[in-house]
Amino acid sequence: MEKFTYWNPTKLIFGKGEVEKLTDEVPKYGKNILLVYGGGSIKRNGLYDQVTEILNKIGANIYELSGVEPNPRLTTVKKGVEICKAENIDFLLAVGGGSVIDCTKAVAAGAVFDGDAWDIVTKKHIPQEALPFGTVLTLAATGSEMNSGSVITNWETNEKYGWGSPLVFPKFSILDPANTISVPKNHTIYGIVDMMSHVLEQYFHHTKNTPLQDRMCESLLKTVIEAAPKLVDDLENYELRETILYSGTIALNGMLQMGYRGDWATHNIEHSVSAVYDIPHAGGLAILFPNWMRHTLDENISRFVQLAVRVFDVDTNGKSDREAALEGIDKLSGFWTSLGAPNKLADYEITDEKIDVMADKAVINGDFGRFKTLNKDDVVAILSSSL
Ligand code: NZQ
Ligand code: ZN
Repeated sequence: MEKFTYWNPTKLIFGKGEVEKLTDEVPKYGKNILLVYGGGSIKRNGLYDQVTEILNKIGANIYELSGVEPNPRLTTVKKGVEICKAENIDFLLAVGGGSVIDCTKAVAAGAVFDGDAWDIVTKKHIPQEALPFGTVLTLAATGSEMNSGSVITNWETNEKYGWGSPLVFPKFSILDPANTISVPKNHTIYGIVDMMSHVLEQYFHHTKNTPLQDRMCESLLKTVIEAAPKLVDDLENYELRETILYSGTIALNGMLQMGYRGDWATHNIEHSVSAVYDIPHAGGLAILFPNWMRHTLDENISRFVQLAVRVFDVDTNGKSDREAALEGIDKLSGFWTSLGAPNKLADYEITDEKIDVMADKAVINGDFGRFKTLNKDDVVAILSSSL
């Protein structure tokens, strides 16, 4: 293992009806609240009414930033920053999925910065402070509810980048599986692919002696593989929603990644794809991840065999390591396809036309990936094999 310090200050509040805890949590931070939400799902499922009723009861002055897009945009972040500055906002409350939370993080840091919020996303400015914020999560996927990362898209320049700061851990996150029951089938599937991809990004590393970390990753994957098909067939099942919601948080709140650092190349490539084509993040991951795996197999084939055997129950009898590893990758890809996820860029009508543009974006900050360092040619190869 490598040396590490683990610190995660987000208070996680999990369970049915726990949205009521807003009554205790919000007043700690002030009266002027910016409520941040997306395109209207929380109005349709009743959560908006529930949250505003609680905020009214505790005497909050509610301001709103609505219409946060999936793949949240810089223009929306800037709108939020303006509201915070004009109305002396004390606290932000994100009610939504990863996009709403990521946007809230950027607004929280942008609100106390005099410059352009894009400089925060591009890391030209390192935030020195941020407004406090909390979240009510409505979609199991990103882990943004308990991490300090955020991904923002600049649609004018077709750039999508992740940034992070210890200042943008949510003060609290309220996770009620019941609030995820209205997530439609496609976004339920995307969320499942996203959380599994987060585990896989972490699983592929070269650090020695990480047996517990390996087993934690593998058991998370196995748990999701067991629950996901049942959930896709039974979207209103509370217990399955509960399992998937908890899995999504654990997959990316830092707990799996103690003592080593993951690869994260596939996420970087995917961000370049969705910056150009605005496709759902995990739709892109379902297509790219198996091809990244095939491309990097020889970096450490035993790791792929371990995954194939322990997670996908591949029988290695009479097979070479390569055959067993490839069978595991095929099983992963087949599992995602069986849920209903896409498996080639053509599923989004993406052709080879802009492969070069996407590859240039992926390497804009140089070669990347810790398990295997990728250059532009590698990215072109992975994208080409994903067509
Ligand atoms: O906008 P509304 O109307 O709320 O609808 C959303 C949206 O259309 C809908 N939805 C959410 N909760 C719902 C619901 N519909 C019905 N009932 C509910 N309870 O689902 C759609 C997708 O929502 P979104 O927030 O975009 O999905 P997700 O949580 O997957 O977030 C995706 C974004 O997170 C970034 C991605 O790049 C993408 O921009 N990521 C953030 C990460 C992080 N901060 O750590 C890591 C991830 O790897 C990822 O990159
Ligand atoms: Zn992701």
